Amino acid sequence: MPATVIVGCQWGDEGKGKIVDYLSGRMDWVARYSGGPNAGHTVKLGGEIFVLHLIPSGILRPGIRCVIGNGVVLDIDHLLEEINSLEKRGVGVLGRVFLSGAAHIIFPYHRWVEELQRQDVRVGTTRRGIGPAYQDKMGRNGIRLLELLDRRWLRERLDGELARVETLHAAYGRPMPQSRQEARETWSRHFSSVAAFLEPMIADTVTLLQDALDRGERVLCEGSQGTFLDIDLGTYPFVTSAPTTAGGAATGLGLAPRQLAKVIGIAKAYTTRVGNGPMPTEFAPALADRFRRQAGEFGATTGRPRRCGWLDLVLLRHAVRVNGIQEVCLTKLDVLRGFRSLKIATAYRRGRRTLRTPPLDAREWNDCRPVYRSMKGWSEPVTGARAWKELPAAARDYVEGIEESIGAPIRILSLGPGRESTFPMPKVRSTGKGIAARRR
Ligand code: GDP
Ligand code: IMO
Ligand code: MG
Repeated sequence: MPATVIVGCQWGDEGKGKIVDYLSGRMDWVARYSGGPNAGHTVKLGGEIFVLHLIPSGILRPGIRCVIGNGVVLDIDHLLEEINSLEKRGVGVLGRVFLSGAAHIIFPYHRWVEELQRQDVRVGTTRRGIGPAYQDKMGRNGIRLLELLDRRWLRERLDGELARVETLHAAYGRPMPQSRQEARETWSRHFSSVAAFLEPMIADTVTLLQDALDRGERVLCEGSQGTFLDIDLGTYPFVTSAPTTAGGAATGLGLAPRQLAKVIGIAKAYTTRVGNGPMPTEFAPALADRFRRQAGEFGATTGRPRRCGWLDLVLLRHAVRVNGIQEVCLTKLDVLRGFRSLKIATAYRRGRRTLRTPPLDAREWNDCRPVYRSMKGWSEPVTGARAWKELPAAARDYVEGIEESIGAPIRILSLGPGRESTFPMPKVRSTGKGIAARRR
């Protein structure tokens, strides 16, 4: 049985957590393949809200087994807190979550380095030490989860790494927040004892998933962040430090590309972004403020206000292509209620040129002006709708207008944060001229 991959089509927070929870009813395994506690995936179940940072969103479905793969960077204190908080709320985690021993660890010095290098200010990061942890992984200086199980070995490794961190602080003319000796002693004790608690969960997750696929079990790979935060394909340097696109599911979990048979892209019905970097369709401040409050667009991880703007099809088309998205799930359509008209960016103008694909150079983004298509808005609430036909005509036109030009069908609609406000789209009837207007 092949695996299904969930990816964000924009700059994160598209509603991946909600849709992973929705789809995991039909799965056996849910596996996170990249990122770390920078992710904040929200699932609303009845009156309860769960925000998951490291543990896959499938955990909220009894019986599902979860994997945190080798592509993830682990903050194990954070992980422990998340496990405790879920267990306290009645969600059984122990025995259902498997951690890759090859996942790299985020240590407190990664957060020191992030601040020292002003990555938090320049990029507007989540301040979770993500960038420096991946820097160490790529620089072959990282410490992996398995290494924490041997206290003496860990002490030696920490001593070496802290020496490098000390040199870096000296170069920046800043004192270490804690001395190398003290950090080495307290951390080798602390991290090895947390790892000892986690030991029953540590596994060869590559073999675990490969065996599961061989047995015909269904695996959902949960992406974090979004396509345009990808270290290679995103709006560099305003990106995260890991692959966020579908290819990352292969390397981050040890699956072969041909085992990733289906890719589902999650797209918000408008655009948001947290942190710095280009965003051509961003609203002017007054509209942004009003919209943000109405839409509740505040970060699930840091609580920061999210930047908001019109839907950008240049991004969606590109996301469909680079991820090989076969199906799109459109979320938060309910939020767009109350506009007399809505705009969708279909291209960018840069000087005399019209661009239909995102520019490569971060500097070029700043001169890109969106070319908009106007769509009719609707005033009726749509949250209660449970079928395509129950949506106002203008909302259906909006969805079909998107679908027409992104190169993949919209197969799932989400009209509210709860599980019940999600429904599959009716099957398309071909008219012989594209996808639009075949559902009436
Ligand atoms: P993720 O990082 O992609 O999992 O998304 P987040 O959880 O960070 O942000 C999505 C937010 O939108 C959360 O507060 C969700 O509860 C909420 N949400 C998801 N889908 C919908 C929807 O269709 N309508 C509304 N109104 N809210 C939604
Ligand atoms: P989910 O999985 C939205 C953004 C940060 C910053 C940039 C780099 O919930 O969609 P980092 O801390 O990763 O080094 O920050 O990436 N960012 C996210 N934005 N949703 C996320 O995750 C994000 N994870 C990181 O705001 O701009
Ligand atoms: Mg989020």
